[in-house]
Amino acid sequence: MIKEICCIGAGYVGGPTMAVIALKCPEIKITLVDKNPEKIKAWQGPLDRLPVYEPGLSEIVNEVRNKNLFFSTDIESVISSSQIIFVAVNTPTKTEGEGAGMAADLKYVESCAIDIAKFSKSDKIVVEKSTLPVRTAEKIKEILSKENKKVNFEIISNPEFLAEGTAINDLFKSDRVLIGGEDTKSGKIAVNELIKIYSTWIPREKILTTNVWSSELAKLASNAMLAQRISSINSLSALCEKTGADIFELSKAIGMDKRIGPHFLNASVGFGGSCFQKDILNLVYLSKYYGLYEVAEYWHQVVKINDYQKVRFTKKILDALKNEFKNKTVAILGWAFKKNTNDSRESASIYVSKMLLEKGVKLKVFDPLVEKSKVLADLSNLKVKNTEDLIVCKTINQTLDQVDLVAIMTESEEYKNIKTEVLVFDGRGIYSSADYTIGKP
Ligand code: NAD
Ligand code: UGA
Repeated sequence: MIKEICCIGAGYVGGPTMAVIALKCPEIKITLVDKNPEKIKAWQGPLDRLPVYEPGLSEIVNEVRNKNLFFSTDIESVISSSQIIFVAVNTPTKTEGEGAGMAADLKYVESCAIDIAKFSKSDKIVVEKSTLPVRTAEKIKEILSKENKKVNFEIISNPEFLAEGTAINDLFKSDRVLIGGEDTKSGKIAVNELIKIYSTWIPREKILTTNVWSSELAKLASNAMLAQRISSINSLSALCEKTGADIFELSKAIGMDKRIGPHFLNASVGFGGSCFQKDILNLVYLSKYYGLYEVAEYWHQVVKINDYQKVRFTKKILDALKNEFKNKTVAILGWAFKKNTNDSRESASIYVSKMLLEKGVKLKVFDPLVEKSKVLADLSNLKVKNTEDLIVCKTINQTLDQVDLVAIMTESEEYKNIKTEVLVFDGRGIYSSADYTIGKP
């Protein structure tokens, strides 16, 4: 009987996932631990200031917090008392060393493995929730068995497929739950423990079990295939603009073929988010590592087209400003990488804004969920210097006042009916009378 679960990493995946498991399994005590004390404090604090914004999340946290969902920085004692340990820490692209700019940085995962080994006094099921390169379980096992020879660790891959902005719904009604385990007696027992947890609310036929490597690779492949659809449609949006075809009509026509399907065919100013780019670059790196250069090049194109789309949209704006940038101001509507999230990691807005600021264009930025400090930090991470040319506004009206052009960057409902006399450039195809819409002739 599983009585206690620990989840290391109280971020966009750990937070919502554990909240939902706590809600569905009231008999299990779940504790989210994180090395960042401010984050833990925020999870314990006011419901309207939780570190992760997701529709429906604060209501669930309100229901289960301090009943069977807890937040702590005491990693040692929580690992020690739990039978299952989920690892949901970040796995960003490496910035230095071998594979810099491409491979996933596993230092946070490795440091979790060391903690788990150090603080475990009884057998543990260790669950890879983070997105990891195929065969990472081998590395984790190596660390665990080197650091702690007294305890048996069973490593399970259970990647997460939720999307931000719809995380709670995605967790309630997952298309599938994937569990990869070893084909050994203890491996099967561990997989069954996870099945028992998920099957309290997920129909059994949607819980798929595979070997560990298929599960690890299926997560990278799923993200790559999703991103590939966006890059495919975005590449065609450029051709539409040249030929008089309309990308939104094209998406509909293509998507009506059941074999293709209608989802994920919305042309945009480019996908953002913390995962698509990093996961594809990781796939490219892995392919090269195994000597599969053609495979690597194929997937790399998905990221290249995405960068091209952001540059293309920016050039359209610069052309419209007729190369007189110094006294021009552009309104940027939307800073997060999509609607209904406060997450701006890898958002197209950051890159478009960087390019505009570097040309001397002034910016007014609005996003209902992203704080000013985050906007400035995002730009400073990209080494943008002239951030004094950017104002972060509190309302849409304030943002639209005295600007020369409006750029719609995310698909929020509130941007659909803006009233303005100036040019509107729509990177999402949501504003019916835009002067320029990505992919429209
Ligand atoms: P995040 O940055 O929001 O959260 C990760 C947390 O882990 C941070 O709070 C960090 O402080 C903590 N952490 C890092 N190392 C730690 C350690 N050694 N001990 C304790 N805490 C530590 O990241 P995220 O967006 O939740 O993503 C986590 C993983 O899930 C990534 O591998 C990502 O690819 C994957 N994923 C993310 C999403 C998503 O929508 N964000 C969806 C599916 C999968
Ligand atoms: C994505 C996947 O959808 C999840 O299944 C996965 O778990 C997650 O990555 C992850 O591993 O992190 P997420 O990035 O949160 O989820 O959001 P998406 O809805 O996939 O959107 C990603 C980006 O693509 C956004 O910038 C979005 O605006 C853009 N997008 C999406 C388009 O430009 N066009 C589309 O048709 C769909």
